[in-house]
Amino acid sequence: MIIWLPILLFVDHLTGDFISNKNDYDVHGSKTAFNDHFLVQVQNDKNSLTFLLHFAPYENMAESLECSIYFPNLTNHYVHSVGVGRRQTQTERHFFFVGESVNDQVGAFIGLVKYNGTENESLPCSSSLSYHLQYLHSFHYQKHYILGVDPRGHIAYGFSNEFLLIFESQSTDTLESWNGNLTWPDASFVPHAVDISEKFGVITGFIYHANSTNQQYDPVIYLINFNSSGHPKIVDEYKPVATPGTWQALLTNSDANTYSAKYDMSISINENGDVLVGMQFINRVFLFAVNITNPINLTYVSRNTNGRALGNGKAVAWLENGSVAAILVNSYTLNYRWLSSQIYLYDIKSNGYNSNSTPVSIFPNNHQTFPSRLGPVILNVISSSSSSLMILDERGNIIIFLTTHSGFYPSIRDTGTIVSVTEPKPCLRGTYKNRSGITDCVLCPNGTKNPGDFTTYCVSCSPKSFCSLGSADEVPESALQTTFQVLAYPKSPESTIFEEILLENTFNIHPGRCLLVSPLFWTLIAASIALIIMIIVVFLKFFIKHPKSKRIGTLLTCLFKHTDLINEGELWVGGLASFSILVLVCFAHVFSHQYYKQYPIETSSDSFFACDLSLRNAKFETNVQSLSVPHSFTEQELFDLMNTQEFVLNVDFVNTLINCDAISIEMQLGQTWSTIRWLTCKNKNSILSLSIPLAYQHISVRILLDDIKTIGALRIGLTGHGHESENFTLRELNFYQSFSKNGQILAQTLPVTLSITKVINETESLTGEESDFGGIFIPTFIVDLNSLFLSADQYIRNTLPSTTLLLILTETPYYIKNLQRPIAKQREIIFNNLLFTIVCLEIFGLIFLLFKLILKPVYYLFLRKIFTCHQHHHQRKKSTDTKQSNGQLLATNNQVNNVLSYSF
Ligand SMILES: *[C@@H]1O[C@H](CO)[C@@H](O)[C@H](O)[C@H]1NC(C)=O
Ligand SMILES: *[C@@H]1O[C@H](CO)[C@@H](O)[C@H](O)[C@H]1NC(C)=O
Ligand SMILES: *[C@@H]1O[C@H](CO)[C@@H](O)[C@H](O)[C@H]1NC(C)=O
Ligand SMILES: *[C@@H]1O[C@H](CO)[C@@H](O)[C@H](O)[C@H]1NC(C)=O
Ligand SMILES: *[C@@H]1O[C@H](CO)[C@@H](O)[C@H](O)[C@H]1NC(C)=O
Ligand SMILES: *[C@@H]1O[C@H](CO)[C@@H](O)[C@H](O)[C@H]1NC(C)=O
Ligand SMILES: *[C@@H]1O[C@H](CO)[C@@H](O)[C@H](O)[C@H]1NC(C)=O
Ligand SMILES: *[C@@H]1O[C@H](CO)[C@@H](O)[C@H](O)[C@H]1NC(C)=O
Repeated sequence: MIIWLPILLFVDHLTGDFISNKNDYDVHGSKTAFNDHFLVQVQNDKNSLTFLLHFAPYENMAESLECSIYFPNLTNHYVHSVGVGRRQTQTERHFFFVGESVNDQVGAFIGLVKYNGTENESLPCSSSLSYHLQYLHSFHYQKHYILGVDPRGHIAYGFSNEFLLIFESQSTDTLESWNGNLTWPDASFVPHAVDISEKFGVITGFIYHANSTNQQYDPVIYLINFNSSGHPKIVDEYKPVATPGTWQALLTNSDANTYSAKYDMSISINENGDVLVGMQFINRVFLFAVNITNPINLTYVSRNTNGRALGNGKAVAWLENGSVAAILVNSYTLNYRWLSSQIYLYDIKSNGYNSNSTPVSIFPNNHQTFPSRLGPVILNVISSSSSSLMILDERGNIIIFLTTHSGFYPSIRDTGTIVSVTEPKPCLRGTYKNRSGITDCVLCPNGTKNPGDFTTYCVSCSPKSFCSLGSADEVPESALQTTFQVLAYPKSPESTIFEEILLENTFNIHPGRCLLVSPLFWTLIAASIALIIMIIVVFLKFFIKHPKSKRIGTLLTCLFKHTDLINEGELWVGGLASFSILVLVCFAHVFSHQYYKQYPIETSSDSFFACDLSLRNAKFETNVQSLSVPHSFTEQELFDLMNTQEFVLNVDFVNTLINCDAISIEMQLGQTWSTIRWLTCKNKNSILSLSIPLAYQHISVRILLDDIKTIGALRIGLTGHGHESENFTLRELNFYQSFSKNGQILAQTLPVTLSITKVINETESLTGEESDFGGIFIPTFIVDLNSLFLSADQYIRNTLPSTTLLLILTETPYYIKNLQRPIAKQREIIFNNLLFTIVCLEIFGLIFLLFKLILKPVYYLFLRKIFTCHQHHHQRKKSTDTKQSNGQLLATNNQVNNVLSYSF
């Protein structure tokens, strides 16, 4: 071996002047061809030319026939491409290949291999094989020499810049070839990819375009028709033009004259004349339409451009009668270093195709993964007429995706062989598939579920349940309950001055219940009774001419004079009024007493003694303070207790079938992530509940759910024990916050920050100096629902096999301080009541005084006027009676005085 190796390399160098790496499947055309009856792959790296043939049925790989054909006398032959007709019949098992002999004697060739055996034959493959080779001696080495085979597999076309050739499977002894400049409209055209349909073909490549300062290669797409003798001719062309200002517009492709896999292109034509052209070097896939009855125009429809990378449309293939397309979206750096490979399946017929299109499914994803032998670099996808899809990786390994019925998706069976095949598996719970084909199942829409017994459709959930996108089950809406422990701190009442409250409540009259508790109302009733008594007394004294009644009147007036608090026992009317004042004052005292006891609000009940039931002897203050300001002794004690409160983190993953076995939990202790165990974990009624004891308060927890099952919503809470002592209470912690979004599904990376804030309630004592303290933590979740949830379209692109919740617990640098104080303490109430009583008396005294000072003189004035008039009348009538009249006037005056003194 040691001696042989340098010689082999030397020989290779001498002869293989253009092929640097013969086992590279990514250079010089497609090394694999595929239809419903067989699959062929050329293996150039073997000593002599070798083909691997694999016959249908693909479903049963173990029993289907696999042949390795090698040609001992074709040692220096390098095959560029192999090709088969997409719709060859089962009896036409032949394939074409084009290539070049690397020793300079024979040049380019085209060949045909026919297999003429039966599957159950026990003879070796080679006994039923025949092959035909035709050489073109007159042409130079071609970097780009491509093969196009008509769908029935009868005619093969070879295309290169210098020549074109036609080779028929029925007459393998003749080869028709001609000079390229007879067909190509531009003699510099170098073909890179071709596809032939029943009526027309499409070929794409570069043309050279130069001026004095700049040379560049521009891509061009030609539409080919075939004339009566079967010769191709170009009837239409399309030149992709990059949008000015984009990175594509700056490309000159000046190195496209040497072979580079980066400039490979791809074409696929479907039965309806839709053409996909992939140009990975500009990261773009074009969709064209050709009228199949008159295929003379190549009509641009749309295009799909990816970002600033290479590889979009490295390969394209139509499936399902031309409605779905498989697009190989590789990602390469701009200097063609591989980054990733994905196959997007687009439903172009129903959804169209452009840069914003959403694929139906993507391979690989979290449940369709590469088998161990294959991947991760995918080079080609080829479809068959029955919509099976062949995928080739960089080492020549193959997966065949076989069409599945509705309700099933193709799942990859890892057999460890070169060719692996998918097997149908029923859709995962929460997904369904109502079409046949190789696409994956899709998520059940919002409001429906698939518990596993239906796979072609989803059943509706009951209306009162939570049933998100991709539901496998339904859960009651109560599973999403959010628990708050803290209410908004009350505001102080409008008036926090006791005098005002007392006056307001004493002198108000409102209908209904308020009337019965209104002091003024009862005072007015007392006043009415006093008025009635007064009227009775006046009647007794003046209008009933009976000595007994006069005596009773005098007795009553004497009695009332003694109860007169207003005028210090001067007037009997004042005595009556004093009773109403007494009623008023008593009510006010009772009110004050009851009001005093309405503190603090936590322990007081409704204020039935007042019109306003919510009346409390409390005023409130709330403010935010820095945690770093030193606290009072008791406060500090409470803070210390709060800082050492032990938390238990509770997380519910709502509406999921994931079980505890998929969970691993890590906690960040210092700088390292340590695995910890949960306290409890169970999945009951499709709610996975997890509780984790936290080592300390400001910790980060990572929960990994290593399962691909869907999750509908999230609910996070903390619990912690309370503590009560003489001076303070630490309240028990028990809150929950739920996160859900209508019509969306929980994402697979869940960053959640939980910020806790201390809330300190101070309640000043009603009598003493000391206050009561209470403390609790309140949560603030710093999270954006949009990043926590995915729509169905976003979910398709998400191929992670697990869900990770990262919860960071922090504390705000401030705390909330609530202070409750009584509006009126005992001394204030007593003093104010005293004042009130005196004021009431004084006000009535003032009324009497006013009466005395204003009303009395006015009354006298009035009376005098009447008597004066009377006197004049008499003077005129009886001028002689002057003396008598004077006496009469005196008497009348006395009488008035008496009336007045009796009345008041
Ligand atoms: C290779 O060998 C086969 C028979 O073994 C023969 O028919 C064929 O002509 C040979 N080809 C060349 C190029 O020598
Ligand atoms: C194919 O096989 C059949 C019989 O098995 C035979 O008649 C026929 O001539 C063979 N054709 C070729 C091209 O070998
Ligand atoms: C095509 O090329 C050949 C050889 O390169 C040349 O002899 C011939 O004149 C060319 N024909 C045309 C039409 O340019
Ligand atoms: C040559 O082509 C480039 C790009 O196509 C253009 O910018 C430049 O002006 C051209 N120069 C001349 C001399 O035409
Ligand atoms: C295709 O071409 C035929 C013949 O020219 C015409 O009758 C038909 O309408 C065309 N179809 C479409 C879709 O343009
Ligand atoms: C093809 O395109 C030309 C213009 O480019 C137009 O005049 C002609 O009608 C088109 N033919 C068909 C069949 O669409
Ligand atoms: C309660 O507070 C008072 C005064 O601040 C203090 O004397 C007493 O020790 C405290 N009691 C407890 C149990 O901390
Ligand atoms: C999801 O379903 C609920 C009720 O089933 C409905 O109210 C809501 O609009 C739906 N959302 C979307 C995005 O369809």
